[in-house]
Amino acid sequence: MKDFKLEVAKLLNSKISDLSVDEIYSMIEVPSNSDMGDYAFPCFKLAKVLRKAPPMIAAEIVQSLDKLDIIDRVENVNAYINFFLNKAAYVKEVLEVVLNEKENYGIETNKDKGNIVVDYSSPNIAKPFHVGHLRSTVIGNSLYQIFGALGYNCIGVNHLGDWGTQFGKLIVAYKKYSSKEEVEEKGISELLRIYVLFHDEAKEHPEMDQEARDYFTKMEKGDEEALALWSWFKEVSLNEFERVYKMLGVTFDSYNGEAFYNDKMAAVIEELETKGLIEVDEGAKLVRLDEENMAPCLITKNDGSSLYATRDITAAEYRKKTYDFKKCLYVTAVQQNLHFAQWFKVIEKMGHPWAEDLVHVPFGMVSMEGGAKLSTRSGNVIFLEDILKEAVEKTKQIIEEKNPNLENKDEVAKQVGIGAVIFDDMYNNIIKDIQFSWERVLDFQGETGPYVQYTHARACSLLKRAGLDYNNLPQIALDEEVISDAIVLLVAKELAAFKDVIQMAADNYEPSYIARYAVDLAQAFNKFYNEYPILVEDEKVKNTRLAIVVATKFTLKNALALLGIMAPEQM
Ligand code: ARG
Repeated sequence: MKDFKLEVAKLLNSKISDLSVDEIYSMIEVPSNSDMGDYAFPCFKLAKVLRKAPPMIAAEIVQSLDKLDIIDRVENVNAYINFFLNKAAYVKEVLEVVLNEKENYGIETNKDKGNIVVDYSSPNIAKPFHVGHLRSTVIGNSLYQIFGALGYNCIGVNHLGDWGTQFGKLIVAYKKYSSKEEVEEKGISELLRIYVLFHDEAKEHPEMDQEARDYFTKMEKGDEEALALWSWFKEVSLNEFERVYKMLGVTFDSYNGEAFYNDKMAAVIEELETKGLIEVDEGAKLVRLDEENMAPCLITKNDGSSLYATRDITAAEYRKKTYDFKKCLYVTAVQQNLHFAQWFKVIEKMGHPWAEDLVHVPFGMVSMEGGAKLSTRSGNVIFLEDILKEAVEKTKQIIEEKNPNLENKDEVAKQVGIGAVIFDDMYNNIIKDIQFSWERVLDFQGETGPYVQYTHARACSLLKRAGLDYNNLPQIALDEEVISDAIVLLVAKELAAFKDVIQMAADNYEPSYIARYAVDLAQAFNKFYNEYPILVEDEKVKNTRLAIVVATKFTLKNALALLGIMAPEQM
């Protein structure tokens, strides 16, 4: 797309030789009030070099500027030079580009910019998938889509928590308190029950802890019986996780979890030792991080067993070797900040220059409004699956009220209900805590997923009524008057911003840029939709307005896809 701001920067540069085009470009502002123009250039910085008052400089430059087709007029207000775009030229350019790229608008189809590993979801085996894991899953999936849209080849890794002393506990608990039948019947909730029971009992019988440690040591040494049980617990858990992933529409390229690194850790520990980083403290091995003002990073316990960080260090080396990543992202709750800071430091101390390509993407907590209504099955754990199911059910009720004759009600309820939960998770900066509220999440008029989806569906139904095959659009002759309109210009500006927004979302590891953008575009479009009738008599006017509808439809759908949300055509 032609960069109008760049054209303005070049024009200014012809009169301001002291600054480069790039410098001017970065100084150009977009006024929030369109009465002040579409672009504004402040002249304060020039005062020193030109030894004149900024307003005077602004006035002189305005006098001397050449005319540009894309600019209607240029004015100076105090120290600012304000540029007013030629609306028709701008809108035409934007519509042509969007309608040409359609379902690929904003999305790079060549994934040749290098590899990016995204480590997300990564739940712990034998424990329920809770709302924290939902956040990791949806944020990670969105970052995967966002970097993909920029032309990176992403590798999604589900770094399952499937190794560690807790599995020794689980084996002991299983033998004491459960049976094959019960686990088969109740799955994770049974595993959770006996795990909790183990902890209660072990308080009075500390020998159980020793038993559990022994079992984990057996696992690390390859004991068949212990590993068979472990692998079965894993299978039972994965079956349940898969159900959630299917509901969310999320997939992974690798399920190499912590256990995968079991036979690879020894080499890494050796590397740490040869590099002189290991200190032995009462039998435990650790890397001191005193200079960094951090607690030491524990590598092995005094019984020789590995730790979470050991496996992360090993996994990072493996990933670098296997994928030669440009970046490796870790999407977890903010509570893990210290863990990542510690072992990133260890990688740096090992002399790996790619330590700086490791990125922790932390997010805040989710709590439920009104307490524990949803924590039906146990204690304070909120089961994600229950939330998703409830979201679908509540959406179905809304649809029954608003549009009882809708086809595929169930499918639409799924897409909207689940989309609503996903959207809400990413509408604010991800580091912020969220107080989950059904009223907010499912508000079709609010700044929500359903609102954006509804706007998209509204566009689709208009196009259907118009009988327009928008996948095979004819060349549209645009009506000058329609595209010279201020409201249309606002829609076009939103459309044009999409690529920059994707870049910003990636630069900041922040899907909320996309979510906010989707709402802004939907709002701009709805203003247009409410202001102007679209299916009018005049063919040229009608087709021009429809072109705006088509461009918005594709862009909304693509933005939702970057968040991992479906865009139903009717709702
Ligand atoms: N399993 C961990 C948890 O549930 C998250 C793992 C995140 N990824 C990683 N490479 N550490 O808290």
